[in-house]
Amino acid sequence: MTELPRFPQDLRGRPHPDRMLRPLSAAIAAYARISRFSGRRRPPVAEVDRDLRLRIEEVRAEAEGVVSLRLTAPEGGPLPFWRPGAHLDLRLPSGRIRQYSLCGDPDDRFAYRVAVRRIADGGGGSREVHDTLWAGMLLTVRGPRNAFPFVRCESYLFIAGGIGITPILPMVRRAAARGDDWRLVYTGRDLGSMPFRAELAELDPDRIWIRPDTEYGIPASGAELLEGVRPGATVYCCGPIPMITSVRVDLPASGAKAVHFERFSAPPIVDGKPFRIALHRSGRILDVPADRSALEVVREALPDVAYSCRQGFCRTCKVRVLSGEVEHRDGALTGTERADTMLICVSRSRGGTVTLDL
Ligand code: FES
Repeated sequence: MTELPRFPQDLRGRPHPDRMLRPLSAAIAAYARISRFSGRRRPPVAEVDRDLRLRIEEVRAEAEGVVSLRLTAPEGGPLPFWRPGAHLDLRLPSGRIRQYSLCGDPDDRFAYRVAVRRIADGGGGSREVHDTLWAGMLLTVRGPRNAFPFVRCESYLFIAGGIGITPILPMVRRAAARGDDWRLVYTGRDLGSMPFRAELAELDPDRIWIRPDTEYGIPASGAELLEGVRPGATVYCCGPIPMITSVRVDLPASGAKAVHFERFSAPPIVDGKPFRIALHRSGRILDVPADRSALEVVREALPDVAYSCRQGFCRTCKVRVLSGEVEHRDGALTGTERADTMLICVSRSRGGTVTLDL
């Protein structure tokens, strides 16, 4: 949802120094392993065919490099219901569409809140939010829809990395309000960059471990993040891929029952093969290497091509396929749609040339 720069990254999505590449490579290899053998796939996200025109009521600095937007109906009426884990698609003034988790109070029917970390070398969406949006503007949003459902369990361990606190915060609040058994581990670069700490402090501080890198060092291993998890607890985890991967790798030894995760960047490509894309309108031929997505390569030729989640569920990058054999890797298109379209952020080909209507 939120943009992050390309690999390599550390836990907070910052470029990794060279000495950190080895553990990162191991994490990606582990990701490939667990992705290949795990039976769990993201459930299809119900499409929400509902555009809302909302007013930005407040833009607020929440932490270093993080602002929140409070969105309300221009006429002041109630907004569609949402549950923890839901997100909005924001259509930015440039036409970019970006997804942001709802991080306010689901019981407040009159306002939505999203928070955005500025990513200097991302795709431009977060910079646009920070630099061009202000209170009083109208924005078109689509949603809310939920790709990260929060289900009732006996016991929870929430793990949030940086801006990954956004979908986790409403879950923590809901669990606290219900009197559930829960704990939160919240990691970040340093305290100043970690939003919503004051709101968390109003909950039960004994259940929360705030873990800034400046005090504890990096990287936090999955075992460290899972330390003390209750046997049978369910883990909800949101943050950068290396963090999620390490939690998934170390989960079986922890005694926790299951992990539900949300990542904020494109997943690593597993078992990719090189192939070619022909752009029908310009006649250009593009080579897609085994370790890059079609979207990445197409964006170099066509920087304005639309995308949002980069994970194969929002459908923003859907493109008509004129010829060629597509290996569909998304969880969103129907069988009929797969006959002549593809989601270029995740889907690819096992070889040969795919001609796109671009
Ligand atoms: S960008 Fe969301 S499905 Fe491709």
